[in-house]
Amino acid sequence: MDMRAKALFNVEGLTAVVTGGATGIGYAYAEAMADNGAHVTLLDVDAGALDRAVAALAARGATARPVVADVTDRPALGKAIAETAAESGRLDVVFANAGITAGPGFLTVEGERDPDGAIENVPAELWDRVVETNLTSVFATIRSSVPHMKAQRNGRIIVTTSIAGLRPSAVVGIPYMIAKAAASHLVRQAALELAAFGVCVNAIAPGPFLTRITTPGLRAIWEKALPVHRVASTDELQGLALFLASPASAYVTGALFVIDGGSMLGRAD
Ligand SMILES: NC(=O)c1ccc[n+]([C@@H]2O[C@H](COP(=O)([O-])OP(=O)(O)OC[C@H]3O[C@@H](n4cnc5c(N)ncnc54)[C@H](O)[C@@H]3O)[C@@H](O)[C@H]2O)c1
Repeated sequence: MDMRAKALFNVEGLTAVVTGGATGIGYAYAEAMADNGAHVTLLDVDAGALDRAVAALAARGATARPVVADVTDRPALGKAIAETAAESGRLDVVFANAGITAGPGFLTVEGERDPDGAIENVPAELWDRVVETNLTSVFATIRSSVPHMKAQRNGRIIVTTSIAGLRPSAVVGIPYMIAKAAASHLVRQAALELAAFGVCVNAIAPGPFLTRITTPGLRAIWEKALPVHRVASTDELQGLALFLASPASAYVTGALFVIDGGSMLGRAD
């Protein structure tokens, strides 16, 4: 086996789909794949952001196929994945990444009780919307991808979860915490079932990254509390994304990779 980095991390010619690929973390995954020669479909509900993402990739000399779709619209999601697979004749890598925030936690960033985040006041509609977007859509993305990957006996599914799914937090809305925790377990269960078919399923659990879901209040808390005292930029996720999409991770499945500047370790000062 060729152990040079170029071969180990080779994603050239692979067909990849990134949900929520127009901005933030999903765009960073897409950029890493496209810069290294993969054919990327960006699926996102935000048409304007998709246009900007495709233009940004074009400016780097890479191309991507945009699809405007809502991951909670299961027929539209299934159609987009099936069309990508049909056009390329294969489906190699799927990033189930689209996600939304979930309102306040039970404490404000100043440490006061926030009635809006209190468990008894969380609107049922908010719970449903967050679970639908951050959990059910991950299941739907995996469900739509698996037939193609099983048929070719090869595939990579990479789910963006969160450190919020690994331990409770006072400042993050409860529907988000629970949806991400369940998505982490979905990764392990799907990995167990699909291992025999050459399909690897793994999770990236980011800590604080600067995207449009990072509020100034949360940023300030994180900068103070994090062992590294800084919030990361999304390009710091690209190495891990490439690893999980490439031959370098062929024996890795059912794993969850925390990338959080030491946040899970606790306070260092
Ligand atoms: N930013 C962080 O610090 C952080 C930390 C942990 C986990 N995450 C997770 O990373 C993922 C990406 O978040 P981000 O921080 O890049 O946020 P973001 O808002 O910058 O990007 C999310 C993208 O998903 C798209 N999207 C949202 N709902 C959608 C839907 N129903 N259908 C299709 N597309 C949809 C948005 O239009 C956007 O382009 C999410 O799952 C989020 O929970 C983020």
